[in-house]
Amino acid sequence: MKYKAFHDGQPVPVLGLGTAHYGASSERRSEVSTLRAALDMGYAHIDTAEAYGGGGSEIVIGEAIQGYDRSKLFLTSKVRGSHLRGEQVMEAIEGSLRRLDTEYLDLYLIHHPDPKVPLEETFEALNQLVEQGKVRYIGISNFDSDQMDKAYGLTKSILATNQVHYNLLVREPEDNGVLQYCQEHDVLLTAYSPLKNGVLQQQGVRRIADKHGASPAQIALAWLIAKDKVITIPQSHNVEHMRDNLGALDITLSAEDTSSLDGLATGAMQVGR
Ligand SMILES: NC(=O)c1ccc[n+]([C@@H]2O[C@H](COP(=O)([O-])OP(=O)(O)OC[C@H]3O[C@@H](n4cnc5c(N)ncnc54)[C@H](OP(=O)(O)O)[C@@H]3O)[C@@H](O)[C@H]2O)c1
Repeated sequence: MKYKAFHDGQPVPVLGLGTAHYGASSERRSEVSTLRAALDMGYAHIDTAEAYGGGGSEIVIGEAIQGYDRSKLFLTSKVRGSHLRGEQVMEAIEGSLRRLDTEYLDLYLIHHPDPKVPLEETFEALNQLVEQGKVRYIGISNFDSDQMDKAYGLTKSILATNQVHYNLLVREPEDNGVLQYCQEHDVLLTAYSPLKNGVLQQQGVRRIADKHGASPAQIALAWLIAKDKVITIPQSHNVEHMRDNLGALDITLSAEDTSSLDGLATGAMQVGR
């Protein structure tokens, strides 16, 4: 595994496991085995949320991590955007800790901003959770750069990350200033849905993949993690895909590859602008 660091030097694996579609079905037993296989092949960072699978994702992860050294894992969960009142945050964290069967989270994010709830109130609760040792780091998700700046000022410890939709075809964080804010303020940008939006089908990605003897997924992930302050959390239910994605860590894109991949989102193909 390779790592980047939070502002205080805390190392964070650059490739985590997304689990948005875990825990929703009768597949939980096999999902536990899939997650254990991922941990055994070197993943250590798992991303979940109280919203995923109605809490089922956290339950599956809680089962999967039993027997592993908790101090070597990096667990992220998120409080729903509809639970941002102070007392709701305090209740939500207890549910997440119980389902994950753990005493603390490494990172706790606001899943979406809610303009109806003052951010000050939510951050007062989040700051308390850090003081209580229930959460090591706090962060946000789906915040634009103005909202992010406000959150940055309300965090008593450090604002660890803003988790946003970012991939070869969705460049919103480049356009709305979030990537620049992260790079200038030493906040990690966690790119979600790195393989979605038809990224893997792009001819330009496939051509560079062929040149490296790599898969399109490896190229899409390598392009993200080559960027300053960017980490990512691809999701898979397929152990071979999980192994394939780890191969992104060994790919070095040339300046020519990077500029050709950068250019993919210009013109009619770009999504989300
Ligand atoms: N904060 C937020 O609001 C937010 C929103 C969306 C997502 N997220 C987080 O980000 C995570 C990742 O995003 P995502 O799940 O939307 O999308 P994603 O990880 O970009 O894409 C997942 C899809 O890619 C496929 N895949 C994975 N590795 C592959 C490979 N090597 N080759 C071919 N296909 C591959 C998976 O299929 P297989 O299962 O068959 O491999 C799955 O269909 C989520 O699970 C969640 O944890 C957060």
